[in-house]
Amino acid sequence: MNLTDRVAVITGGAGGIGSALGRRFAAEGAAAVVLADLDADAARMVAERIGPVAHGVGLDVTNATQVHALVDETERRYGRIDLFCANAGVATGGGVDAPDADWERAWQVNVLAHVHTARAALPGMLRRGQGYLLFTCSAAGVLTAVGDAPYTATKHAAVGFAEWLAITYRDQGVRVSALCPQGVDTPMLADGLAAGHLGARVIAASGAVLTPDQVADATIAGLAEERFLILPHPEVATYARRRAEDPDGWQAGLRKLVRKLRAAG
Ligand SMILES: NC(=O)c1ccc[n+]([C@@H]2O[C@H](COP(=O)([O-])OP(=O)(O)OC[C@H]3O[C@@H](n4cnc5c(N)ncnc54)[C@H](O)[C@@H]3O)[C@@H](O)[C@H]2O)c1
Repeated sequence: MNLTDRVAVITGGAGGIGSALGRRFAAEGAAAVVLADLDADAARMVAERIGPVAHGVGLDVTNATQVHALVDETERRYGRIDLFCANAGVATGGGVDAPDADWERAWQVNVLAHVHTARAALPGMLRRGQGYLLFTCSAAGVLTAVGDAPYTATKHAAVGFAEWLAITYRDQGVRVSALCPQGVDTPMLADGLAAGHLGARVIAASGAVLTPDQVADATIAGLAEERFLILPHPEVATYARRRAEDPDGWQAGLRKLVRKLRAAG
């Protein structure tokens, strides 16, 4: 898929990666870019900066009615959705003892929102015999996020659901990709690094911290190739291979890194 003349929706469109995707899609010649975010004002500001092709709206991705309404309104206004990017996501920074409310929010935003997206967007895509779902998951969904159990569990679920959709609908014209970056310089990681959180430090020690624009570049390349796993950090493919071939060895390596960072204080 290339973005020329495409109609794209991006949730979490006011955030670091979402707004970079919006800018890049517009630069690639998209017909329309709908930026949807819990923070409606910020989504509108991002859209204004992008230009008339972009449109900012308020959306809570955990609310199925709102997701369906967004899809209906976009299809009514532009005739179709070529690419739906379910990009909104939340980290918790908690372990097994994270409050139930944090587990629930991670489940709602990182997984169930993708189910709402699929239910809302698939009918039109299947009718037209084409469409593309891009889920922003995370390297945590193919590896692990040290220090964040709800994030790890839900991002694994998100990759699993994306894979299920890809296998089920590809032959009917609907393509699916899971975007799985490692460290990206957005508030989600920057806040953790500023607070000295171990998980954020592990991410920073495991590879380059990319800019959202670099993630957008990798996304454009991945969409062009219609690759299922889009890995802006190539080292994640190496780690994932190691994890698959030797789970115990991979875990031992990660534990060693964690011990080293803990000792460094
Ligand atoms: N930053 C990283 O290091 C990193 C790495 C891998 C994956 N990711 C993933 O990338 C995606 C984008 O994150 P980001 O780094 O740009 O973070 P960000 O915090 O800058 O952006 C997230 C956006 O999602 C929005 N959002 C949160 N809950 C929402 C809801 N219920 N409904 C609608 N919008 C909601 C927020 O308002 C925010 O604008 C997330 O899915 C995240 O898990 C981030």
